[in-house]
Amino acid sequence: MKHIATLIFSGFVWFACQHEQKTIPDSPSLFKEKSASATTVSDPVVLPSTGEGNFESLVADFESKDRGIWQKPELVISYLGDLKGKTVADIGAGTGYFTFRLVPRAKKVIGIDIDLRFINFMDSIKVRLPETYRNRFESRLAKYDDPLLKPEEADKVVIVNTYAYIENRVQYLKTLNKGMVPGGELLIIDFKKNNLPIGPPDEFKVSSSQVEQELKAAGFLVTKVDKEVLDYQYIILAEKRTEK
Ligand SMILES: C[S@@+](CC[C@H](N)C(=O)[O-])C[C@H]1O[C@@H](n2cnc3c(N)ncnc32)[C@H](O)[C@@H]1O
Repeated sequence: MKHIATLIFSGFVWFACQHEQKTIPDSPSLFKEKSASATTVSDPVVLPSTGEGNFESLVADFESKDRGIWQKPELVISYLGDLKGKTVADIGAGTGYFTFRLVPRAKKVIGIDIDLRFINFMDSIKVRLPETYRNRFESRLAKYDDPLLKPEEADKVVIVNTYAYIENRVQYLKTLNKGMVPGGELLIIDFKKNNLPIGPPDEFKVSSSQVEQELKAAGFLVTKVDKEVLDYQYIILAEKRTEK
């Protein structure tokens, strides 16, 4: 019974997230009415457009107390290696769950989102940081189809629980590629299928094999796929190829 209630709640929050996305002014809708699972490279994942919710419930969901148990943020961050002197971009940063855990480790962290409310939320956290850390953080309001990185700006990029929201993903990854240094690393984490108690319903998830295909199609070199270390999510590491 508790399990069912958790499932319904997770679904509710997730649907709410989609609903909130649609209210962003001057932005095309991220999600379409009809639901169907993506099957080919770059197929957009079709997400529902209905749902109730508000910003506070999204924040509560992203920052929920149990998240540390299944998200294992320290372990996830260790996949990025030594971040000293590095610029890291967190695409779809939301509340900055990963962004602010990265700040003490890196030279600079760019928290990128398309939703102004999350940009404002991250900026409200920034002002509370000690000065050394404050100066390492920058929020950036991006576009649906472009993270707005400067050429070769990022050494490392993370995309956590956001990949399925991106449309025309191969094209998006190609654009992102330009914003990364040669040899730069991209870490993608998203939910595994199999009706898990956390995350969106299965039909709205992108499988790890599809992410791999899309990365390759965009010219990235997939260096690691880990489906075991996190209970609910896969971790994929890819590299921007260096010019020969
Ligand atoms: C489920 S939340 C994940 C937030 C954060 N990464 C985390 O793990 O807590 C997805 C976030 O991606 C953002 N988003 C959706 N589409 C995006 C896009 N095309 N580019 C950048 N951010 C996007 C949303 O506004 C939202 O903040």
